[in-house]
Amino acid sequence: MEEVIQVINVYKSFGSQQVLKGVSLSVKKGELLYIIGKSGEGKSVLLKHMVGLIRPDKGKVLIEGQDLHELKGAEALALRKRVGMVFQYGALFDSMTVYENVAFPLREHTNLSEEEIAEVVKEKLTLVDLEGVEHKLPSELSGGMRKRVALARALALNPAILLYDEPTTGLDPLLTEEIDILIKNTRDKTGVTSVVVSHDVWSVIKYADRVAYLAKGRIEFIGTPKEMLESDNPMLRRFICARLDENLMKSLFNACRTHGTCTHCQQEL
Ligand SMILES: Nc1ncnc2c1ncn2[C@@H]1O[C@H](COP(=O)(O)OP(=O)(O)O)[C@@H](O)[C@H]1O
Ligand SMILES: [Mg+2]
Repeated sequence: MEEVIQVINVYKSFGSQQVLKGVSLSVKKGELLYIIGKSGEGKSVLLKHMVGLIRPDKGKVLIEGQDLHELKGAEALALRKRVGMVFQYGALFDSMTVYENVAFPLREHTNLSEEEIAEVVKEKLTLVDLEGVEHKLPSELSGGMRKRVALARALALNPAILLYDEPTTGLDPLLTEEIDILIKNTRDKTGVTSVVVSHDVWSVIKYADRVAYLAKGRIEFIGTPKEMLESDNPMLRRFICARLDENLMKSLFNACRTHGTCTHCQQEL
């Protein structure tokens, strides 16, 4: 299968703080890959490398085989447009209507006519199951609807790759589920290669094709959700156990938190 993102031995420091220490990771075309890891481990820094917002100190990042930092002018711009990013808080323009928010990247980066723009906006809003809200302001929408608008806007330029930075952090369980399903449906309908940073282990188990665990500046594990649950990496086991509730753990591992020591992560309980 074609690899559309290749992160090759990437190092990145900020001052004396080494954040990424040799990260290598490939994402396949059309894949839904989750990246998990503790807060502050460098997940957002890794995503920003994939969209070209940060340049590695060492190593490289290839998008569809090309290095963003080696291209110039129109070629660099064209490659940048292949990668869309959905930020944690949606980052919609509050004073613009839903229509204007989704139309914004089209006005910035294309020469489409107003009629063509209207068509694309309608198509993208339909794709995320939002209709009849074009003339509302973001403040008039629910949290879930705002996320849908942000996604429609990210989809406006037909990216090959979509990166989501903690799209469900701070949301209640119902809305988390709604957004997880939206991400998966979007991938299923468009085939867009999707990378999701999340700390929600249950989302990973239900929706990920593969999952990468970032710890200590490296990818400590990569595999299917099933392989993740079976991994004997002690750090990963603790990470999982700390983030699943008791009933889920019992059903998954058959014993967690029922003895003095967790049989999965070996932690004292
Ligand atoms: N632009 C920056 N300048 C300095 N330090 C940064 C910058 N971006 C991230 N960091 C630091 O890098 C570390 C990893 O950050 P981040 O990728 O945001 O973690 P997370 O895994 O929670 O997304 C943190 O200690 C953060 O303070
Ligand atoms: Mg982050």
